[in-house]
Amino acid sequence: MSATSVIGLQWGDEAKGKIVDLLTGQHDIVVRYQGGNNAGHTVVAGGETFKLSLLPAGILHHDVVSVIAAGVVINPQALLAEMDDIAKRNGPIDHRLLISDRAHVIFPWHMLEEAVLERSRKDEAIGTTMRGIGTCYGDKAGRTHAIRVGDMFYNGSFRRRLSEIVAYKNKVLTALDPQIDPLDADTVYEEYSQYAQELRPYVIDTTSYLHRAVDEGKRILFEGAQGSLLDLDHGTFPFVTSSNSSGCGVHSGSGVSERIIDRMIGVVKAYTTRVGGGPFPTELNDETGQYIRDRGREYGTVTGRPRRCGWFDAVAARYGARLSGVNCIAIALLDVLSNFDDLKICEAYEIDGVRTTDFPSHVEMLAKVQPIYRTLSGWQADITAARVLEDLPVEARRYIDTIGELVGVSAEIISVGPDREQTIFCNS
Ligand code: GDP
Ligand code: IMO
Ligand code: MG
Repeated sequence: MSATSVIGLQWGDEAKGKIVDLLTGQHDIVVRYQGGNNAGHTVVAGGETFKLSLLPAGILHHDVVSVIAAGVVINPQALLAEMDDIAKRNGPIDHRLLISDRAHVIFPWHMLEEAVLERSRKDEAIGTTMRGIGTCYGDKAGRTHAIRVGDMFYNGSFRRRLSEIVAYKNKVLTALDPQIDPLDADTVYEEYSQYAQELRPYVIDTTSYLHRAVDEGKRILFEGAQGSLLDLDHGTFPFVTSSNSSGCGVHSGSGVSERIIDRMIGVVKAYTTRVGGGPFPTELNDETGQYIRDRGREYGTVTGRPRRCGWFDAVAARYGARLSGVNCIAIALLDVLSNFDDLKICEAYEIDGVRTTDFPSHVEMLAKVQPIYRTLSGWQADITAARVLEDLPVEARRYIDTIGELVGVSAEIISVGPDREQTIFCNS
């Protein structure tokens, strides 16, 4: 029995895609189990850059099966476009992609509803990716207006359900915003029936497939999307995504017990970023933040939005690590921090004059946080060619050790550039 899980410990974009790609070769199956095309996972392989959104990063490996499991929400148009792109650039993907018949489907009303809801929040907008993720998960939890991938293959009931849902959604949408043109159920039916036919060869009961794979001793790699602090239940609600993006979601999203996981790897950036709204205690709204944004090319993979940047927040990452039950961490983008005289790591919070290392449960409390920093000496060398720990300046090693100490788990992988080769495995 051998399964690995790769989970983001911050607010997403920690370089999970790169870490999953690196570890895929040691596995037989890679599983995406939550989120949707709000995710953007970048893999740089052989000098080529691949931006994956719904497809697991394992798709770039031809001898590995990639699974989109039950907990994912699927925009079929986006998925088919991505499949087409990967097939053109990386070779045919038949026989190496499986899609759960239990996964929920994103429809045009999900994006329309989300736009109205986000506008209504005004200054308190969540800053979502506008991909209909939250509204689709909302319908899933509500059960009445939800359609799963498998439902699209029962033509009669699919058509009937669609017309009921479209009638309901048109009432709601036009009441909320009279400018919205009502949707036509027949048009949606035709469009989605076509998608269903194209996806059909890939669709199976992935939960049973994974159960059999576990029995057969297959090595499974679970690929998290987003980050632990965006977790619907345990993150910085309401500025979160609508799924369990911490390690908590592996079991519910895949249907496979987390008891089979022997390696839970938490991925962190060497600093912190966040896209969208919500408090961010170590945010740098100054030239240092801009410097990190420029050096780290911190612009969203999905929406192109500039990412908010700040110092490494060990209180937040430690919370993410505990939530996800990680037993080691991967620290990415360390190279971005070269050439600073000093670096800061937030080791504790001060809230209303009280020092704490507990991550607050309410955003209003998080908004009051005064970060307490530990200052470390920086390093001046370019570290992108480092391949073993000894290649790193002593200050960079001290920085890594400090993160490990404060987060509570030590680093096994250090990434010093986007390429596969730009990686240090600490224990090898
Ligand atoms: P994910 O969503 O967690 O997979 O992360 P993203 O792909 O959205 O963002 C990480 C970005 O950093 C991507 O553009 C990667 O190519 C890039 N990247 C990954 N590791 C490193 C690294 O060690 N150094 C640098 N400079 N870039 C990296
Ligand atoms: P990966 O997998 C960073 C953020 C959005 C917004 C909030 C809710 O690439 O790390 P949503 O569209 O999910 O309802 O938006 O979550 N968000 C991400 N931020 N990386 C992601 O994915 C994200 N997916 C969603 O910016 O603040
Ligand atoms: Mg990303």
